[in-house]
Amino acid sequence: MENNRKDHDSILLIDPITQYDVAPITAEQSFLSLGLRDRELLNGRWHFSVDVYNTFLRKQLFLQPPTDAYGKIAPVDHDYEQWERVNLPSNWNCEKEKYWHYEGSGIYTRTFPYEPKAQGERVFLRIGAANYICRVWLNGALIARHTGGFTPFAMEISDKLTSDNRIILEVDSTRRIKQVPSLNYDWFNYGGVYRDIEFVRMPKTFIRDAFVSLDPVKDVIDVQVHVDGDAVGIHVRIDELDVDADIEVNAQGKAQGSIGVSPELWSPENPKLYRVQITCDGDSWQDDIGFRRIAARGKDIYLNGEKLFLKGICCHEEVPNRGHALTKEDMIQTLQDAKELGCNIMRLAHYPHHEQMSRLADQMGILLWEEVPVYWALCFDAEETLASAQNQMRELIMRDRNRASVVLWSVGNENPDTQARLDFMKSLIAICKELDPTRLTTAACLVNGQQKCVSDRLCEYVDVISINEYYGWYISDFDELRQILENSQFDKPLMISETGAGAKSGHHGVQGEFFTEEHQAYVYRKQIEITDGKLAGLLPWILYDFNTPLRMNAFQEGYNRKGLIDESRNHRKLAWHVLHDYYVNR
Ligand code: GCU
Repeated sequence: MENNRKDHDSILLIDPITQYDVAPITAEQSFLSLGLRDRELLNGRWHFSVDVYNTFLRKQLFLQPPTDAYGKIAPVDHDYEQWERVNLPSNWNCEKEKYWHYEGSGIYTRTFPYEPKAQGERVFLRIGAANYICRVWLNGALIARHTGGFTPFAMEISDKLTSDNRIILEVDSTRRIKQVPSLNYDWFNYGGVYRDIEFVRMPKTFIRDAFVSLDPVKDVIDVQVHVDGDAVGIHVRIDELDVDADIEVNAQGKAQGSIGVSPELWSPENPKLYRVQITCDGDSWQDDIGFRRIAARGKDIYLNGEKLFLKGICCHEEVPNRGHALTKEDMIQTLQDAKELGCNIMRLAHYPHHEQMSRLADQMGILLWEEVPVYWALCFDAEETLASAQNQMRELIMRDRNRASVVLWSVGNENPDTQARLDFMKSLIAICKELDPTRLTTAACLVNGQQKCVSDRLCEYVDVISINEYYGWYISDFDELRQILENSQFDKPLMISETGAGAKSGHHGVQGEFFTEEHQAYVYRKQIEITDGKLAGLLPWILYDFNTPLRMNAFQEGYNRKGLIDESRNHRKLAWHVLHDYYVNR
């Protein structure tokens, strides 16, 4: 008994989390480009419990039935089938008032049947996003751990399935200093599994990844394919373009080739998509892809060879009462609201939004800026932090690089200009160029208020320089903004990636009176007056008011009120009309 006693205590004294901190899966190992493949959804009713003291790990509740340190069947403190049930995908914060501010571990579980449909089929489980750490347990075994709250991850489960399976998703939304983002950020920390949980059946040899893009200069499409399994070649078809080509697969399963085409170019005015089909050894991968060119030359940005002023707006991924768990209808409304404002681009801040957003933007004709949450101060000198940011960058780019609407990858937002941060960002830019040389890189760089210029060292390494500035709100002297623009002459496009002011919808007063709609409208008029003609793009902050614990005063009450539309997504403020009139008449 004594010996067991020690074991028992030692288990109770070990921090259970570190015991199960297995190496996180990464994009290189696990990425699946599904295109338009059929998926079998595991969404719907799951049993759920918050797990404030990590009892799930501490008492090894993933074992069926759970046993205690003596190997005895433990009294069942956590009977899954008696837990409350929630609908996935969702954020637990929105399930019940008592969970609103809960940050920690939550456990989701359900059972599901499995019957093979084809001899030798391979089965992959894919989770669209879980914030922030997600451990996946299948039939009592830990099969994966993923870190990063906004990108998909997949794992092969072929040899772990039985006819009746129990899956457990243990999600930990705790903010930690070495995570990406770190401890402090101006949006709400929604926890849980808030995008689709699905499984996909593949043949023994299948197309794991495909990237199809128009060459930035020549009339050819570049095709890069990764085949998992034994294949000697792939076949590419685009019927509308009379493309019918074979490409060899090398020993590493990679196929790369260029095919001469003259496609109708995708643009916001003409969002033309082509059905691309790639086959190999009985597997077929398809996607609807638009072909266009984006380039930065001198101070300007060019789409399909035409100079384009980017008329944009920023937005978070949030809807009332459902947090990050947007439906397709929510996403369509967000994109329609941007188009009605007169925008041709949206900045999806500050993290990867749902993959459907870029699919819908492809169809609806609006450009996108996408980014990873390398936000404010991070542990730029920590290996774990760099590895997480690099993996999130890879997962985002590999997920969305077939989307014509995406034209900018942003590697950071308002980060302190240190050497560690510069090295960190340069490595992210290198990943962007390695995985996708067809798009532009940018970052929300810092303005040097003392020297009245943009002197961020990162400017040298991005294709497009973006700055966040809040003249008229945090700083009152608009003349400084004039000086900054005059003193910051680059041979690169310069955009404003955030500017704006707070206003509580329906609160009226006069210019100079903070949080009135009139003052917000005044700031927009002055910003437009000073910046017009001097920028390659303008992306004010922000389309909708949004939840954040950082904003607690009588006008904000937990919301950032810089939206042009209030958090209900129904009330346009006076400033909405100022920006709309500028965009539609520019
Ligand atoms: C910063 C930051 C935003 C924030 C905004 C604000 O620039 O990038 O995330 O919400 O300013 O102050 O409202």
